[in-house]
Amino acid sequence: MVNPTTTAPKAPTDDWNSTTYSTTVAPFVPALTTKITALLAPQASDVILDLGCGDGVLTKDLAAHAKHIVAIDSSANMIEAANKNYSAPNVEYHVWDGADLAGFQAEHGEKQYDKVFSNAAIHWIMGSPDTLDEAKASTRRAHGFAGIFAALKPNGLFISESGGHLNCADIRAALFSALLANGVTMQQIKAANPWWFPTVAEMRKELEKAGFEVELVEEEFRPTELTKEEDGGAGGWVRLFCARFLRLVEDEEKREEVVRSVAEVLEFVGGHGDVEGGSKCGYVRIRVVARRPEVVV
Ligand code: BEZ
Repeated sequence: MVNPTTTAPKAPTDDWNSTTYSTTVAPFVPALTTKITALLAPQASDVILDLGCGDGVLTKDLAAHAKHIVAIDSSANMIEAANKNYSAPNVEYHVWDGADLAGFQAEHGEKQYDKVFSNAAIHWIMGSPDTLDEAKASTRRAHGFAGIFAALKPNGLFISESGGHLNCADIRAALFSALLANGVTMQQIKAANPWWFPTVAEMRKELEKAGFEVELVEEEFRPTELTKEEDGGAGGWVRLFCARFLRLVEDEEKREEVVRSVAEVLEFVGGHGDVEGGSKCGYVRIRVVARRPEVVV
């Protein structure tokens, strides 16, 4: 049975599970951070806002090189795991929607940061729960980037890496085809889409609209080996990251069939001889360094 609703669920469900994320499905996310942490280059005097900190594994590493880190994530599950596993005297974790930094500042004091940092989160944060309404989606993005700008000290830097245009297109195309084959409509798929995967030009436009001086926007095609854990691989990836789409198929057996077929397709398309039984997914990263000018005109 296919869920007949045409809009994505309004009340956000917390689909995150920190253990599944960090051990079974995506341990490579905090591991593949050499380039973005080099751009961040944390200094002992830096007060940093970590936007979309997830389970805090990278936050704690960064905290060893910074003065203080305020880390936020919209998932209560992730923040609970971060407080439990990656606490440090100079780190504070909060549950908050990263697209509403104005609200965060109003609630927690108008702190200004040397740097706002974000890894693997901007595509979620600047995505929209109401993606069929482009006006609402664009207002959310504008509010999100304006909030980052306002949170920075003059001359402060926004440094981020996230999913860019065509990110994971292979696995997404396999999933959407499987959903269509199971009676889900393209309109339902679009309504459930939580991500914003911008081109370089789109990212630059948003940053400049918010007032940033853009120092770097670059993209990188980075095929990434998925895990070979029993509940990991492409199937685990889809279960964890694509829960919103899977909920469009009500029947559990059909849902499992969708997951199985995506895994099969990806193992064929992304499988390779280097790692027996391994399969890669076509991650595309977009990296940003943008400065809040000394004088805002
Ligand atoms: C990413 O990090 O690029 C990503 C992760 C999950 C779903 C989509 C994209």
